[in-house]
Amino acid sequence: MLMFGCFQVWAVLGATAQVVRGAPLAPAECNRTALSAAADAYVAAQTSGKLEPLQGLLDASWTYQENNEKTDTKKGVLGKALKIDHRRTNFDTTACATYTELVAADPANPYVIGTQIRHGANGLVTLIDSIASTTNSWLFDAKKTLQYVLQEKWDPIPEGKRDNRSVIQAAGDAYMDMWSNATAHNAVPWGTPCTRLEGSAYTGKGQPDDSCKPGIPSNHNQAPNTHRRYVIDESMGSVNILCVWEHMMMAADSHEFRLEGGKLRYVHTLTVCGGKPCKL
Ligand SMILES: *[C@@H]1O[C@H](CO)[C@@H](O)[C@H](O)[C@H]1NC(C)=O
Ligand SMILES: *[C@@H]1O[C@H](CO)[C@@H](O)[C@H](O)[C@H]1NC(C)=O
Ligand SMILES: *[C@@H]1O[C@H](CO)[C@@H](O)[C@H](O)[C@H]1NC(C)=O
Repeated sequence: MLMFGCFQVWAVLGATAQVVRGAPLAPAECNRTALSAAADAYVAAQTSGKLEPLQGLLDASWTYQENNEKTDTKKGVLGKALKIDHRRTNFDTTACATYTELVAADPANPYVIGTQIRHGANGLVTLIDSIASTTNSWLFDAKKTLQYVLQEKWDPIPEGKRDNRSVIQAAGDAYMDMWSNATAHNAVPWGTPCTRLEGSAYTGKGQPDDSCKPGIPSNHNQAPNTHRRYVIDESMGSVNILCVWEHMMMAADSHEFRLEGGKLRYVHTLTVCGGKPCKL
């Protein structure tokens, strides 16, 4: 069996323990090559509708979750062969996880999927956690989503210009709090230009307000966005948050944010209402 190390550096930390005594230990750096191999295998599995490409990479106790529910892969989207038109994977080498965005625009089998993959200390995959949007999902139109996604630039942020994890996560959390917190919008680092791809609906560039502010909630007394799971990639300035969108039919939701120079640049959302048409 191949051993993929989410490379624990305890031995190295041990050597410097005297220096850092009393301070919290730095999080173990995880093996980016192993994260990348698993994300590639996941995309191959989704392309073929079969789990084989992931063989040898899955922990014995691994689980598959789709739209916030534990799901049999054969009954879920992972059991369907999809023609993938777009794929981007972001890496969280602190949490040992990745986030992959997939768009399959084929009108016969259209999907836009957001997938977090988590690795255990042995490097193997412990969880594949997907939001799989399709017909009836909020503002769903995979062809349009593809067209907009391909216009965006997600280049790595140059070292020295990167925001740290806490800044990136705080920006995403403030945005997610706007439905339930009347002052949260003040904590969102609004930027211009900023574009929001909500399902297939594009807000921002070319519109009167060249930002992601139009349409933000005015009712702050709604149920909160809960059960948040994070994948943060400082080199991309991004955080992906999967959650329960309680105020719209307890939907399964994915929000991805990218910051550039501390300011919000892109927002991508996927929202799935248990196979029913999403309605506010
Ligand atoms: C990282 O993972 C790759 C491939 O998964 C493996 O070949 C390599 O030995 C690993 N490196 C470390 C330092 O564990
Ligand atoms: C992250 O960056 C912010 C803003 O530059 C700074 O205030 C904060 O101390 C940094 N946090 C860490 C953990 O480095
Ligand atoms: C509401 O949001 C503001 C700004 O982010 C934050 O300071 C405050 O703690 C939040 N309140 C609650 C109850 O979460």
